[in-house]
Amino acid sequence: MNRPDSEAQQRERIRTTIHADADAACAVVAGELAALIRERQAAGRTVVLGLATGSTPVRLYRELIRLHREEKLSFRHVVTFNLDEYHGLPRTHPESYWRFMHEQLFDHLDIPPENIHLPDGTVPRAEVFGACRAYEEKFRAAGGIDVQILGIGRTGHIGFNEPGSGRDSRTRLVTLDALTRRDAARDFLGETNVPRHAITMGVGTILEARRILLLAWGEGKARVLADAVEKTPTDALPASFLQGHPGAAFHVDPAAASALTRQCHPWLVGTVAWTPGIARRAVVWLSQTVRKPVLKLLEEDYSEHGMADLLTEQGPAYGLNIRIFNELQRTITGWPGGKPDADDTHRPERAMPARKRVVVVSPEPSDDVLGMGGTLRRLVDQGHEVTVAYITSGNLGVPDEEAAMAADLVVELAGAGEETKFAQTVRRQLEAKTAFEGDTPEIRRLKGVLRRGEARASLQACGVTAPHLRFLDLPFYEQGRYRQFRAGERDVGTVATLLREVQPHQIFATGHSADPSSVAAVSFAVLRQALARTNGEAWRGDCRVWLYRGPDRDWAPAEIAMAVPFSPHELTQKIQAIYHHKSQRSQSPVVAAGLHEAWQQAEQHNRAIAVRYDQLGLAEYEAIEAFERFPDL
Ligand code: F6R
Repeated sequence: MNRPDSEAQQRERIRTTIHADADAACAVVAGELAALIRERQAAGRTVVLGLATGSTPVRLYRELIRLHREEKLSFRHVVTFNLDEYHGLPRTHPESYWRFMHEQLFDHLDIPPENIHLPDGTVPRAEVFGACRAYEEKFRAAGGIDVQILGIGRTGHIGFNEPGSGRDSRTRLVTLDALTRRDAARDFLGETNVPRHAITMGVGTILEARRILLLAWGEGKARVLADAVEKTPTDALPASFLQGHPGAAFHVDPAAASALTRQCHPWLVGTVAWTPGIARRAVVWLSQTVRKPVLKLLEEDYSEHGMADLLTEQGPAYGLNIRIFNELQRTITGWPGGKPDADDTHRPERAMPARKRVVVVSPEPSDDVLGMGGTLRRLVDQGHEVTVAYITSGNLGVPDEEAAMAADLVVELAGAGEETKFAQTVRRQLEAKTAFEGDTPEIRRLKGVLRRGEARASLQACGVTAPHLRFLDLPFYEQGRYRQFRAGERDVGTVATLLREVQPHQIFATGHSADPSSVAAVSFAVLRQALARTNGEAWRGDCRVWLYRGPDRDWAPAEIAMAVPFSPHELTQKIQAIYHHKSQRSQSPVVAAGLHEAWQQAEQHNRAIAVRYDQLGLAEYEAIEAFERFPDL
C-alpha cells in the first residue's frame, strides 16, 4: 500500500497527483518516460513500455512526439507492448488499436517496426489461447515491462479487464461490458458495430510491470477513479487492484479528481479553511448524509460528522443553518435573464439591462435543449434576445439509415434538379460504403443538414426562430474524428467574430469539465480562447458566463449558482423539444429498453435536482435546470 503524502490524502491508497490540466499531467509523465529512455540509451539498454489506446493517452503521445521532434528524444531503443486489441478487427480497420497506435504515435517516431507489439486481433478463436501465452512470453523475454501506461474505463476496467476480472488474470480473450461498448459506440458509428470481444493483458499481467502510470481526465471518470483510489480492492473494480502495487501512480486533472475525499469532502480528512463555498458544500452534504432538511440540523449532527470546528467558527448550528438555507434559497429564480425592476442584491442574475442579449453555446445540435431547454424557453418568453450558436454540425452522430431516408425524400420530391443529383450521389455513396468506412464529404453534408433541421424544429418548440440560430460548423469537427479533435485558429476566430457581433450580456456554455478530447470540451476550450481574445472590449465588462451540463452529469446542490424551476407543463414542452432530435435516438435495442433515451435522461435529471432541493427543505418543484457561474475571465 502507498503511504499518503499529506493528511488530506489519508484515504488514498494510490499515489495520486492532481495537475492543472491534462496537458500539464502529460508533460510530467512524458518527462518521466523521457528520462528513463535517455538513461537506458546512455547505458546501451532498451526500455520496455506498455502502452494504452483510447482518448486518454492521445495527449501524452503528442508530447512524446514533440520531445522526439524538438528535443531529439530517440525511440530506437524502445520496445513497446500494447495492452489490448479488439478481437475480429483487421489491422487496417479505422478503429483497430494497431492502426490507432501507428497513427497516434509510432508513425511519428524513429522506433524500429520490429520493436512494436500488439495482441493480434485476427487470430482465429481456437488459437487465441496460444497466441495470448506467446504474447506474454515475448515481453517476459524482453525483460518485462518497465513502465505501463493505463487509462481507466467508466466500469473501472484497466486494459479490457472488466468488472469480475481477478487479480491474477492473464492475457486472454474477454467479453466487453455493455457500458464499455456504449462508450465506444460513437467511434464505431453505432453500438451494434462495436466488437463484442477483445484480447487484453490480464490484471496480474499488468501488475508485473515495474512502474504503472494511470492517467484520467474529465468528470466522467471522477466516481470510478475515487473508488479505485479509496475503496477496498475488489474484482468489481479492477483498477482498485493497483493499490497493491508499490510503483503505481495516478496522474489526473481536477475534474477527474473531483470525487476524491480531499476534493469533495475535505472536512472529513483534516482541517479546512471554511470559505463560504466550502461551508455551503459541507452543510448540504451533512443534510443529505443525516437525511434532514438544512433547518433541522442539530449541533450534534455537526460534531458527529467532523464539522465541529465549523460550528466553533461560524455557529451556533441554527444560525449557520439559516444562513446556508438562505443562500440555497436565493439560487432559485424563474428569471434566468434577471428580473427587471427587482432588487437584485441576492438574485443570481442582475436586473439590468432588462432585455439582455444572450448567446447559448451548444457543442452539437441537441446539447442546448438537453441541458437547458426549459431555461431557453423562459429566456425567449421573457423578452431576451437569444442566439443559439451550434459549434459543430454534429454530422458524425447521424446513422447512415437516417441519411439514406433523407436522400430518398429529396430524390422523390426534387425532380431533375441539382438537388436530386446530389441526393442520388449520396445514395450511391451510402450503398458503396463498407462497414466502418468514414463518410464522404457529401454524406457528411447531408447528415449535417439533417441535424440542422432537427435543431430548428426543436428550437421552434422553444420559441427560438431562424434568424437567431447560428450553425458555425467549426473546422476542428468537420476535419476531425471522435477523440482526436484539435482546434485551431479558424475555430477560435469564428467564435470570437460571433461574440463581437452579438456582444452578449449572458453566455450559456457547457463542456468545462468534460473529457478534454470530447466535442463538448474542445468546444468549450475554443470559447475560452475566443473570450480571452475579446478581453478588454467594452461589452465584456457587462457579460456573464453561465455553465450548464448534459443530463449524464450530476449536480451537487452546493455547486449550483442558479436553479431555474419549471412546471410540469414546461417539463413536457422541454421533452417535446428533445424529441425533434430524431437522429439521436438510441441505436441499441438493449439500451433502448432501459432509461437511456436522451429525453428520458433529461427528464430524470431535471426531476432529480428538484427532489434534492426539496430534501434540503426548499420548495418542492416538478423539475429544475441548474447552472454554475463561470468565474469572470
Ligand atoms: C485502452 C484500454 C482501456 C482504456 C479505457 C479508457 O487500451 O485498455 O482500458 O484505457 O477504456 O478509455 P478512454 O481513454 O478512451 O477514456
